[in-house]
Amino acid sequence: MKPKHLSFLLFFFICIFSASAFAYGNTATKTEPQNNEMLRKHMSHMASEWVNLEILSSSAEINYKEVAKTLKKMKNTAQIISKMNKNTKLESPIISLISQMETMQKHLKNKSPELLHQDLDFLSQTCFACHQAHANP
Ligand code: HEC
Repeated sequence: MKPKHLSFLLFFFICIFSASAFAYGNTATKTEPQNNEMLRKHMSHMASEWVNLEILSSSAEINYKEVAKTLKKMKNTAQIISKMNKNTKLESPIISLISQMETMQKHLKNKSPELLHQDLDFLSQTCFACHQAHANP
């Protein structure tokens, strides 16, 4: 291969490399606002479900059927977040949030107000811990 060809080839590679690096950088900056928008939307659903759980659990006669329904909705929301999320740092806290909700669902069979209050406290701590680490709402 003639040196002239070689330098042309090199030039060609540099062009491809910088174009793909540019494209990669571009998608990285594009997905973050989209991911945050998705998070905000589903997080506010989860927040209203959380408020409902707090209200239901503070009643003198706890309606466990309603609690179970609300918790199921909340878990569905968390699963949607987990599926759509593109921020790798958030993956493991979302998974532990979901498994916490699953434990809570199992505990509901006991119909114990103490256990429900304790589980709700733990759940809230998980919400707050993740916000402190990754967001400031
Ligand atoms: C995996 C980490 C994580 C967990 C766990 C988590 N959140 Fe969030 N939440 C976020 C992030 C990140 C944002 C901010 C998104 C943004 O605006 O950039 C957010 C935003 C929010 C918002 C603000 C939405 C808005 O309209 O701006 C609310 C409300 C919220 N979360 C509620 C909750 C509740 C309730 C829980 C627990 C059931 C919870 N979150 C658990 C990461 C988490």
